[in-house]
Amino acid sequence: MPIVIEAKDISKSIDNAYHKVSILNSISININKREFISIMGPSGSGKSTLLNILGGLDSQYEGGLTILGQSMQNLNGKEMVTFRRQHIGMIFQDFNLIESMTVEENLKLPLLFSRIKNYGDEKIGCFLNKVGMYEKRREKCSLLSGGEKQRTAIARALILEPELILADEPTGSLDSKNGHKVMDLLRRINEDSGTTIVVVTHDQNMAEYGEKILLLKDGTFI
Ligand SMILES: Nc1ncnc2c1ncn2[C@@H]1O[C@H](COP(=O)(O)OP(=O)(O)OP(=O)(O)O)[C@@H](O)[C@H]1O
Ligand SMILES: [Mg+2]
Repeated sequence: MPIVIEAKDISKSIDNAYHKVSILNSISININKREFISIMGPSGSGKSTLLNILGGLDSQYEGGLTILGQSMQNLNGKEMVTFRRQHIGMIFQDFNLIESMTVEENLKLPLLFSRIKNYGDEKIGCFLNKVGMYEKRREKCSLLSGGEKQRTAIARALILEPELILADEPTGSLDSKNGHKVMDLLRRINEDSGTTIVVVTHDQNMAEYGEKILLLKDGTFI
């Protein structure tokens, strides 16, 4: 099974005014294609910090990180942005949608940033259908419910068909019913497309969608 994420001895610390504060402490992990992994841990244990490193949003760390065979250390900032756009979809607790735009317009943003011009409306419609947002495609995002916003954000993460999806508390702003709907959707994407998924969550019920649950405490897996 091809390895999607190979992280070796990832450490991160931050210098505050008085001393060095360790946030991640020698984390090693291999994640294979098609795996669905949940990461749990108390607040402040370093979950978001780790996910941002795995997603190439943060390059200030020590250790080795290879994603889809590409060593992250060998990429400069611009190459990293391109790599991320091509291969990684990210989902966040607070959706990160442009609220003044419609569902469809938000979905078109990754295409715009990647300068993809001939992406068919039919294909966009297909992703909207997948997340159950086709009927609301012309609705402004500010008017959507939390669950609808997150399903829109998932469609946006999917539009460039990434091999890897990283989700930081994707159900954190949702009630339990909508939370399960979002996790069901992620599971379906994992099963149908073989997309590798890593979800960070506080919620044991949501973590159980993963085939493996990793526990992070004080910057290290236990
Ligand atoms: N840029 C930063 N400067 C200083 N400290 C930071 C920085 N980023 C994170 N930290 C600290 O690192 C620790 C881990 O933060 P992180 O956001 O990764 O935790 P988390 O597990 O995602 O928590 P939560 O469950 O509350 O989201 C925290 O103690 C936080 O205060
Ligand atoms: Mg966090």
